[in-house]
Amino acid sequence: MKKPLFIRTLLGESVERPPVWLMRQAGRYLPEYREMRSQMSFLELVKSPKDAAEVTLQPIRRFGMDAAIVFCDILMIPEAMGQHLSFGKGMGPKLEPAIRSMNDVDRLVDVDSLKSCGYLAETIRILCQELPYESPLIGFAGAPFTVAAYMVEGQGSKNWAQTKELMLTQPNVFQTLLDRVVDNTIGYLKMQIEAGCQAIQLFDTWAGQVAPDELINFVLPAAQRVIEGVNALGAPTIYFPKGLGLNLRHMQTVPSNAYGVDWQSRMHDVVEVFPNSILQGNLDPSALYATRERLDQKIDALLTDAKKAKGFVANLGHGLLPTTPPEAVGHFVKRVQEFRY
Ligand code: CP3
Repeated sequence: MKKPLFIRTLLGESVERPPVWLMRQAGRYLPEYREMRSQMSFLELVKSPKDAAEVTLQPIRRFGMDAAIVFCDILMIPEAMGQHLSFGKGMGPKLEPAIRSMNDVDRLVDVDSLKSCGYLAETIRILCQELPYESPLIGFAGAPFTVAAYMVEGQGSKNWAQTKELMLTQPNVFQTLLDRVVDNTIGYLKMQIEAGCQAIQLFDTWAGQVAPDELINFVLPAAQRVIEGVNALGAPTIYFPKGLGLNLRHMQTVPSNAYGVDWQSRMHDVVEVFPNSILQGNLDPSALYATRERLDQKIDALLTDAKKAKGFVANLGHGLLPTTPPEAVGHFVKRVQEFRY
């Protein structure tokens, strides 16, 4: 049987239209998600395979995206490595104790993904049974820098000062931490592919927070090693480094099948720099608040700009905002699915 459109696109085959999915397509903007969250915490939801699978399926049932992404979080790896993970009400994630020294790094444990994250393998197995053929399942992890930044700060941060201080004053400690995260992430993604995920996305949400020297010396080589580690496993990969601006030109040291582009660049300009790359993105998530007419202009401009790319996956340029009207999501999906090259 012919592979699904999303997979054919990532493999560089010629296709009839771009596939479409949205980062954070499962979540709080859907009333059926909020209903489930009123019964259990986010972490309970992630660790309950039947419920995590249900939440993954909710947007697919409503809108029929061309890919599903398994409901989980990038911080499950630090948790499995021994940090205590919690989400306070409206406070974002917390990881304790924060990593600040070589001793702290040495205390981290290596993850047996099937044991520590068996819930995720089970969620993936359920989804492989339930998902329509045309909506293949994406597995994911945080890229090592982004994950390490949360591990060092112990939480989200505006300026990631502790992370940068560690990187610049004790580069050896930070590199050792990155190496530990790289190794464990490869095993974790391998587990997801073996359980049935057909593609992988690596989220580097905070890659754009560091200066070009540190991007080139720490951030990109770590992501490169993860992608190289999973490249032979038969699931195409997407690397999404957010906030790179002009430094996007360095991202191709990471040998993924495709690259996610954030909403701060114009797709027209990115395609000019990377005419031979498969690109994903990059509608501004807040465009989904716009009037229908303005939204259509933005979608059409994106699809037109992206025609010149070697391959294109329509998506947002970052995660869906919790206050997004669900109808706008449906409209975006439909408009892309009606488009033809
Ligand atoms: O639908 C999907 O995209 C799949 C699920 C998914 C979640 N998190 C679920 C989630 C994915 C791919 C992620 C990745 C993730 N998690 C990233 C990288 C992508 C990005 O958005 O930049 C990051 C940085 C995290 C860390 C994280 N997890 C934060 C900062 C938060 C709090 C965010 C908030 O808005 O409160 C989470 C929790 C989280 N992960 C939620 C969801 C749906 C909100 C949980 C809830 O309150 O119900």
